Amino acid sequence: MTQDQLRCLEPFFQTLPWHRIQEGQKHLSKNYRDKKSSSSVFATEEGRLAYLATRCPATFAAVCRVLEELRRRLPTFYPRTALDIGAGFGTASWALLSTFATLEKIELIEKEIQAVLWGQRIPFTGMDKAIWRIEDIDRIKTFPAVDVLIASYTLGEWSRSTLEATLDRLIQSPIAVALFLEPGTPEGFTTLLEVRTRYLKGGWSLVAPCPHAMTCPWQGTQEWCHFSVRLPRTSLHRYVKGAERGFEDEKWFYQIFAREPWASFVPFEGRLVQRVRRYPGRVALSICDRRGFVSSLTLSKKDPRYRSSKKLAWGDAVCYDLEKMG
Ligand SMILES: C[S@@+](CC[C@H](N)C(=O)[O-])C[C@H]1O[C@@H](n2cnc3c(N)ncnc32)[C@H](O)[C@@H]1O
Repeated sequence: MTQDQLRCLEPFFQTLPWHRIQEGQKHLSKNYRDKKSSSSVFATEEGRLAYLATRCPATFAAVCRVLEELRRRLPTFYPRTALDIGAGFGTASWALLSTFATLEKIELIEKEIQAVLWGQRIPFTGMDKAIWRIEDIDRIKTFPAVDVLIASYTLGEWSRSTLEATLDRLIQSPIAVALFLEPGTPEGFTTLLEVRTRYLKGGWSLVAPCPHAMTCPWQGTQEWCHFSVRLPRTSLHRYVKGAERGFEDEKWFYQIFAREPWASFVPFEGRLVQRVRRYPGRVALSICDRRGFVSSLTLSKKDPRYRSSKKLAWGDAVCYDLEKMG
């Protein structure tokens, strides 16, 4: 169970009455609604604990899903070094560590000193391999040579000039694989489409989620590509959010690029870009395919692809023949 690995956070939640953490959550939610940066959230104890209780489990779940997909597509990729930019408390690094036992060193870059001080205190297994740098990404002229770069839920907080200049530098850096995650909102989608365009222009290969490197069929439309992961809510999580349901659906979008095409890349025909609709005896799929189109495919029990499709979920790659699609 992915979320079990976050048990190491529990002692932090004994340090303040829960109603205070709830105040921090109200501030955190307002901050997201107003599209403000995390600075003011990390400035208070309440805000940091609310982030730890509600946002860390969600981003951890999303990054773990992205890394699962990375492993499926590049099964011979065994990173030893990683760079986590806009690291916050290090959530994306925890996911990297829980996915890749080969990691020997992770460098984390974060501008908020309070996030770094807290990140250094969280005893997630393997974080003794972490090197923390309190720095603004703007000031970093050269990035270290690493096997994997991750930028999780941070690009949306950067100014236009920071985004452009940092992407230019990252694209030129000696990095083997680069992963970007953003919230599953129209803004997150637009930001990552820009990242996609720049990385492809820079000669990198797209690993996932797109099955093609052509223009995204949803670019400039009312649709936006995103995915969803369900995670259990702890009682504190439910309390601070005033939520009744025991789970939360985190929506996010991502892009994975490799500097060189991988000989062992596991190809796929398409990606499920919406929730799978299941009916008695048939299943309906929305698939973005290698021709660069999103199409609907309804498979009945008679179709040989029905059995494997029943197990598929939103965000999964589709590996069977899609030729017959209209
Ligand atoms: C929403 S948090 C995400 C944290 C973490 N990556 C995660 O997935 O949970 C965004 C983080 O990016 C950091 N950040 C934003 N702009 C930055 C910059 N210019 N340089 C370094 N860090 C930055 C913020 O301080 C914050 O910790």
